[in-house]
Amino acid sequence: MLSRETLTSILLAIAIGEGERARDLVATTDEVDDEVRRTLEEALADGLTGSEAAGTLGDALRSVGAERHLVNECYRVAFYAGESWASLSDNPFYAFFTANKSGRPLDKWVHYFPIYQRHLSRFRGRPCHVLEIGVYRAGGLKMLSHYLGPQAYLVGVDIDEAAQTAAGPGYFVEIGDQADPQFLRGVAEKHGPFDVIVDDGGHTMRQQVTSVQTLFPLLADGGTYIVEDCHTSYWPEYADQEPGEPTFLEWTKGRVDDLHAYHFSKSQALVTPWQTDLAGLHIYDSVVVMDKEHHAPPFSEISGTHEYINYDRLAVAAEVEFVATRDRALLHAAQIEAIVQARASDLESRAAEVEARAVELEDAADDFAALAYQADRLELELLRERDELEQTRSDLHGSWGIIREMRTSKSWRLTAPLRRAKWILRGRP
Ligand SMILES: C[S@@+](CC[C@H](N)C(=O)[O-])C[C@H]1O[C@@H](n2cnc3c(N)ncnc32)[C@H](O)[C@@H]1O
Repeated sequence: MLSRETLTSILLAIAIGEGERARDLVATTDEVDDEVRRTLEEALADGLTGSEAAGTLGDALRSVGAERHLVNECYRVAFYAGESWASLSDNPFYAFFTANKSGRPLDKWVHYFPIYQRHLSRFRGRPCHVLEIGVYRAGGLKMLSHYLGPQAYLVGVDIDEAAQTAAGPGYFVEIGDQADPQFLRGVAEKHGPFDVIVDDGGHTMRQQVTSVQTLFPLLADGGTYIVEDCHTSYWPEYADQEPGEPTFLEWTKGRVDDLHAYHFSKSQALVTPWQTDLAGLHIYDSVVVMDKEHHAPPFSEISGTHEYINYDRLAVAAEVEFVATRDRALLHAAQIEAIVQARASDLESRAAEVEARAVELEDAADDFAALAYQADRLELELLRERDELEQTRSDLHGSWGIIREMRTSKSWRLTAPLRRAKWILRGRP
């Protein structure tokens, strides 16, 4: 499998947009066999952004069973090389975490920060008692203290005495085993009741289940219990429970039933703290958050009727249904009437259009009749004129005959010299 050094070089190349170099590194390394190489090469396909390539490389490494820290590194680069980090830029926990160069290591899954913010903001700046199980070098205690403010009373529990020294003044660190109910009860008695408990201890099944079973009932009303790194429920190395006993997440699923006990339990009273005091259960990737708030059994109610106590639910429901049906019918009728009215007014306007068109056609018919009459008259005039022309033509014809006759007569010929002399005298040719 890839060494940490080779993966670092590949990721660096990806992050600065040198995809070709990243592919060369995969192609030339002798740390993987051909099958793994093919898988990694496919993951680094051309055209991916740096963030996408780092993500697909992480997916590929996960699919070939690479160690978790290698996969983790890919997803880290995918997160920071893209835009995702911006969503955390105003998160106070993340600000503290990234600025932390104190020498007190803080090791967190980055998606926890919005979860802390969502569930701890109501305690910020207020007097509250906080217990962190698992102190290590007190980085977590410092972060909580910084976020919650000076009125927070912070207590840590760790099995390792070094944690006490590391925490220094200002923090109470009790040394003991979180899987020991008696020890936990003593801590709660001495420093509690706690408003906030964060379990970031050993993360084994027995530790997580024993701690929550012991401490949730002792949590202050209105308090919040957070268990981190619950993915250990899927990791065999954390399975220290007795055979047949649940993992922490299996145990948590049972609390979903407790939240709904009223709706199926036949017992006279709801008795366990999970049934009476668990007000909310929030399950995130690797984090479980439980809200504590004592509550009475739930009941439902109908408002908006004139009845108050002991009303006949069925009758009220029937009445409500009846009224709703009537209202629906009225609404439907109104809708139909509106449609009919719209249709009628549409038809009316269409009829008016047809009427206007008919008037136009009538006018056109009148115009046509007048023109036809005029055409008849013109035709008659034309015929008359044609007759007159014909008459004139025949008269002319007659006159030409007379003229011809006259011109061929003897007297005309005898008088020709006279007419010529007359023309000459008048200066005509
Ligand atoms: C993940 S570290 C805690 C980190 C710390 N919360 C932080 O944010 O910096 C886990 C701590 O749990 C402690 N631990 C392990 N098993 C324990 C147990 N059975 N009871 C109490 N503490 C335990 C370890 O000694 C270690 O210091």
